[in-house]
Amino acid sequence: MPPSLPFAFAERRATAQPRDAAFYQDPYAFYTALHGHSPSFVWENYGHWCFAGFKEVSALLRDKRFGRQILHVASREELGWPPPNPLTRDFDLTEKYSLLSLEPPDHTRLRMLVNRAFVSRNVEQLRGRIEALANELIDAFEGSGRVELLKNFAAPIPAVVIAEMIGVPRDMAMQLVAWSNRMVQMYIFGVTEATMLDANQASIEFMDYVRTLIAERRRQPREDLLTHMLTAGEDGQKLTEEEVISTTILLLNAGHEATVHTTGNAVKTILESGLDARSLFATAGQTEATVEECLRYDAPLHMFTRYALQPVELEGGIELRKGDVIGLLLGAANRDPRRFSHPDRFDPFRADGANVSFGAGIHFCIGAPLARIELQTALSTLFRRLPTLRIGELPHYNNVYHFHGLERLVVEW
Ligand code: HEM
Repeated sequence: MPPSLPFAFAERRATAQPRDAAFYQDPYAFYTALHGHSPSFVWENYGHWCFAGFKEVSALLRDKRFGRQILHVASREELGWPPPNPLTRDFDLTEKYSLLSLEPPDHTRLRMLVNRAFVSRNVEQLRGRIEALANELIDAFEGSGRVELLKNFAAPIPAVVIAEMIGVPRDMAMQLVAWSNRMVQMYIFGVTEATMLDANQASIEFMDYVRTLIAERRRQPREDLLTHMLTAGEDGQKLTEEEVISTTILLLNAGHEATVHTTGNAVKTILESGLDARSLFATAGQTEATVEECLRYDAPLHMFTRYALQPVELEGGIELRKGDVIGLLLGAANRDPRRFSHPDRFDPFRADGANVSFGAGIHFCIGAPLARIELQTALSTLFRRLPTLRIGELPHYNNVYHFHGLERLVVEW
């Protein structure tokens, strides 16, 4: 391997520094090498097994011997973990009862109670609202000939939509984005104490705000998801106040972060491809296929981890102890040459586009139908309204490897 590449291999081990700009600007070079070398490997910098193959990632996401949580089957002492960090007490509290931190039976109960709002036939009704919002945002900058698209278009759409669904006033939407941006800093590799304190402070402010909103809804119920979460379910199946707070914050955060970055990555991909945008959004079916290919080609979330809930032996003699972590590389699985023909080619007309960008198994993205409608509507409206759209400044990806999104996207027309 030439020394200039930001990664190296030996046996079934690989080294690649997630904080190295050369790496996170283009993790795909690493993935291509992995697929040719050893798609199941120990990633030295993380110190655990990782999986890049499509088949392996899909299967492990569904494998009940693994969980996003381990503390329901083992104590911290047993796992050799240090006590919880007091600096992130409030941040940890926002996550404690969220769907992403729970496993059955609690996960099943919580997911059932919020799922109804997100099923396709319900979110389908939002298409008109999303289109109006997209048009309104484009109206505001159309005359300028140049705009930073993430802040002025990609972020407000999913933020306003999820805020309105939950019952948060629209003028609070961008405040939610600000809290969420500070909180997701906790997921960067090698997080500093200053970041922890800031993320914790953002969590305190966010929780206080949601508590005020909950008190309002208890006094005066409305037709919104927050009221639904407070009232839904039989006795014993109801959500506790902590669960409502955690779920609200998770929905508000997850409800925009990944969609914003998918929009930015998609616009960049389409413009760089040189393909005629009119053909990519010519029909409803083609628009769906284009969005799927954008999700496959440049996914916004590249790695999720799981804990082995019991000792597990995987194919290839991989032995895991209870509590061991594995990394599932969604961005790499989407480029697996064993699954996709010409995986590194952006081809919105391909027939084999089904990807793992929304995950799989019990934690499969609850917002996938909503995100798809948001992306289909936002992208088709943008390219219809601004047919001469082009990139105005060379875009760069954020320095957080597994949240693969752009810092800024300046476009002109
Ligand atoms: C393009 C946009 C999106 C992408 C790529 C995405 C991706 C994902 C992925 C990969 C997971 C599974 C994580 C795991 O298995 O460890 C997930 C879970 C989740 N997503 Fe999304 N998401 C997107 C948009 C949304 C939206 C719009 C919402 C909100 C309404 C949302 C809410 C959630 C929630 C609540 C979970 C946890 C589900 C559970 O644990 O049962 N996501 N998402």
